[in-house]
Amino acid sequence: MKQYDLIVIGGGPGGYPGAAAAAAKGWKVALVEARDLGGTCLNRGCIPTKTLLHTTELYRDVQGELALGTMEGAVNVNPAALFAQKVAVTEKLRAGVADLMKRNKVDVLCGHGKVLAPGKVEVTSAEGSEVYETERILLAAGSVPARIPVPGSDLPGVITSDELLDGEANVPARLVIIGGGVIGVEIASVYAALGTEVTILEMLPKILPNMDKEISQNLTQILKKRGIAVKTGAALKEITRGEGGLICHYMVKEKPEEVAADLVLMATGRRANLAGLCAEDLGLEVNRGIVVNDRFETNVPGIWAIGDAISGSIQLAHAATAQAQAAVAYMAGETPKIHLDLVPACIYTSPEIAAVGLTEEQAKEAGFAAKAKKALLHGNAKTIITHQERSFIKVVYDEETHVVLGAQLMAARASDMIDEYAVAIAQKLTMEQMASLIRPHPTFCEAADDAFTL
Ligand code: NAI
Repeated sequence: MKQYDLIVIGGGPGGYPGAAAAAAKGWKVALVEARDLGGTCLNRGCIPTKTLLHTTELYRDVQGELALGTMEGAVNVNPAALFAQKVAVTEKLRAGVADLMKRNKVDVLCGHGKVLAPGKVEVTSAEGSEVYETERILLAAGSVPARIPVPGSDLPGVITSDELLDGEANVPARLVIIGGGVIGVEIASVYAALGTEVTILEMLPKILPNMDKEISQNLTQILKKRGIAVKTGAALKEITRGEGGLICHYMVKEKPEEVAADLVLMATGRRANLAGLCAEDLGLEVNRGIVVNDRFETNVPGIWAIGDAISGSIQLAHAATAQAQAAVAYMAGETPKIHLDLVPACIYTSPEIAAVGLTEEQAKEAGFAAKAKKALLHGNAKTIITHQERSFIKVVYDEETHVVLGAQLMAARASDMIDEYAVAIAQKLTMEQMASLIRPHPTFCEAADDAFTL
């Protein structure tokens, strides 16, 4: 039996920063991880996807230059080397996480963690089981892909992002993606650039249903221009295996339709990873995820939970990191200095999409006299130099006070630019205050001058 101040279950972007934050307080900390340090984000999510996107976007850019005649010669993607590069990147980052744990003197316990009772965690690996004692427990077990329960969803060749991103190079001739959410549009971008015939089936009337309407419409047009078939209002009903490969049967306006594929990717959301996490008699309250209060405390004293595993989670790596750091601060009786309610969301399509704060619709629903100011980037020098697609920045503000309430960006480097909009919202700055800054030229970010000027 060992005595810890904190045991964290789950070594993803929630768990490991939580462990580091606790260790920095001088606590004795253990981190339990059943698979690889870094969790879904590093091993089967954000990092592998962005590695694939980096090369495939570059390839598309080169093709654009070849078409312009500014470059000559034959350039091809080597899928095996591309996927090997993805492995190299994840290995490097994983080593960084392991090093961070070592430097913070966090004990990494390899195995499946299970809470037996408050203060008691069992860790099971191939070598056997051991029970550890601890003052506190932080559950950071993340989420797993949710396969929709239609007939044929378990056929060989029907995979989730787990298998796609954790495996070897797999470049099919025809890929059908079920779900036009974040994973759907990013993976569609990768495979369309690799020459795969890609179809997205989205049940709702638009792809990226939670995003600003104009962003969804623009992205749909851009994806279609790149040869991706985007079918909206298309609910998958069944997958069968026929002579032509895997056949996805779906309904559009009560009319049955079908599309053939060599590979089907289920990108229909993720659910909390709770399998075997707690002993049944622990009585942990669960409602599509672990129920927590605004201090990340569960209903069981001494147990906190954060990230994708909690009820109503926003399923973003950086949200999990912030929540874990906040939970550790609450454990220590401190008030965290993090704006937990302001989470930027980024989608790494080309152009990138980024949003923070409220959309105009949401701001109006929240009772603000909200208005949006839109700046188009078609005259922005960097946008022209780099041959970008139609890009824009939308800033939502309160018409009475001019305080910035939200921003939605569809532009190159939007994921890097979203920060200044988050600062404006967090600090309750006005449009005039934001417009008063000098921004460098030529840059994408200077488009903010126009976006903030009323
Ligand atoms: P999602 O919730 O973004 O999208 C799932 C989509 O599937 C929805 O649009 C839904 O309407 C559709 N759908 C559900 N059932 C369907 C059916 N029967 N037929 C057709 N369409 C159907 O989930 P996704 O894309 O799987 O991503 C999971 C999570 O991972 C997200 O919450 C996201 O936050 C996170 N993520 C974040 C990324 C980023 O920050 N760049 C990248 C990838 C994932």
